Amino acid sequence: MKPFAVLSLVLVTFIVLLFRPSGAPAINAVAPAILTFDDPLGRVTTIDVNGPVVEKGNPFFDASLGSNGRSCSTCHQARDGWTVSAPDLRARYDASHGTDPIFRPVDGATCPNDDVSTPEAARKAYSLLLDKGLIRISFPIPDHAQFKVIAIDDPYHCSTPTQLSVYRRPLPATNLRFLSTIMWDGRHPTLAAQALDAANTHMQAKEPLSSDQIERIVDFESGLYTAQSADRAAGMLDSDGARGGPAMLPAQKFFIGINDPFDHNPTGAVTNEDIFGLYQPWHRFDDANGQARARASIARGQQIFDNRPMTMIGVGGLTDVRNVNAITVTCGTCHDTPGIGSHSINELFDIKTSDPEQRTPDLPLFTLRCNDGSIHVTSDPGEALITGRCADINKFKVTSLRALAAHPPYFHNGTAATLADVVNFYDTRFIISLSDQERADLVAFLGSL
Ligand code: HEC
Ligand code: HEC
Repeated sequence: MKPFAVLSLVLVTFIVLLFRPSGAPAINAVAPAILTFDDPLGRVTTIDVNGPVVEKGNPFFDASLGSNGRSCSTCHQARDGWTVSAPDLRARYDASHGTDPIFRPVDGATCPNDDVSTPEAARKAYSLLLDKGLIRISFPIPDHAQFKVIAIDDPYHCSTPTQLSVYRRPLPATNLRFLSTIMWDGRHPTLAAQALDAANTHMQAKEPLSSDQIERIVDFESGLYTAQSADRAAGMLDSDGARGGPAMLPAQKFFIGINDPFDHNPTGAVTNEDIFGLYQPWHRFDDANGQARARASIARGQQIFDNRPMTMIGVGGLTDVRNVNAITVTCGTCHDTPGIGSHSINELFDIKTSDPEQRTPDLPLFTLRCNDGSIHVTSDPGEALITGRCADINKFKVTSLRALAAHPPYFHNGTAATLADVVNFYDTRFIISLSDQERADLVAFLGSL
């Protein structure tokens, strides 16, 4: 066995022992289940606080609820941090010769009427899923929208001026207790509404899920806590005083606004800029070699995330609502939820991931004209497709930042292939002026979450 595998085995045994009930178990106590998998940077681990009992027969895994072979877990895989990763999708495609149920024309293909009759045609039809892990989602332009779609540049001919197809990454069905916003565009008010809709659309359910099935699905997914637990270079992420890995998550406090930097914290408490607080003890490894060096890099990355100022110019949701042109923030201004990095209130932002500059030729491009005459060119109008408001064009929710290593690529449209691409995006778009070392440190930190 490789040393890393041995290390992982020791970790798993340790966690299992840690959670084994000692003495008489309390009434209703369930031993949490631990699921752990290799990922490109190390290991990703999930704690299911409801224990394996729930998981086994849970409708989350039941493909018979749909009519196309899919269950929720088809697109929300434990090994991919409860979403999908593009490399794993390619492996699934090859291993199943394209028959894995995620590869279904309804929304796995670039358009439902794509030709999938030959292996070559099918590979082309599923190219966005295979290359970037993108699922097609179709929206009518809302009645009374403040904009009209006046031009469509769409390689797949799957949109009309009144009905747009956009292509988005599945979001992780884990760490859900910390969400202030559900879906990239915030369109579902509750996880129950989300599950009902997911079964109808993605699974082409024969009949709507019963309220009992929905409750069991939501109970199950709400009991999952996932994080990177080991890093190939830095080793166990909870060793030598660090608090990485999922063990700290079940007890992590959360309420809406818990750490909001703009006066939405109901307790009025001062914002804690130390968002994750995982790796301070690893600063002492600075100037060392090998594993210690990797640890010091992660600790420095955490510091950059919490403290490094950057100037955001014309960022919808941030500058427009304050009537300023530019505002100086840190990563944690938006990724403010302690221990998780999502946004602690329901507030979406346009960080320019749908801009023409960020668009790759495999994504559609839409031109919108607002009632005030302004023109917006975008590959996915985001929240505006729900609200119809021009002010919401290109706004997306602030994702949580756990288990990132397990599910490349990044952003709603998969336009950042790696965490280094994410950091480069912020560095160039928002003029942070990071040095090469600082970029590497921030990447190492993101990979350790
Ligand atoms: C074909 C793939 C697919 C299937 C099957 C699927 N989902 Fe999803 N899921 C997605 C995509 C894509 C999104 C994001 C879409 C968006 O925001 O527009 C998503 C989003 C979610 C979210 C939102 C998480 C967040 O952070 O907001 C949850 C929760 C979720 N799915 C649970 C489920 C459940 C429960 C089922 C089964 C009933 C299910 N999904 C079936 C692809 C899928
Ligand atoms: C103005 C608010 C804001 C700031 C500041 C901000 N982010 Fe984000 N972040 C977002 C939003 C919104 C998204 C989702 C955008 C999308 O997918 O289109 C996101 C997405 C991400 C993702 C991708 C997650 C995934 O699963 O795809 C990473 C990683 C990330 N941010 C890291 C950072 C880092 C590092 C910084 C500081 C350099 C930072 N963010 C600063 C709002 C912000």
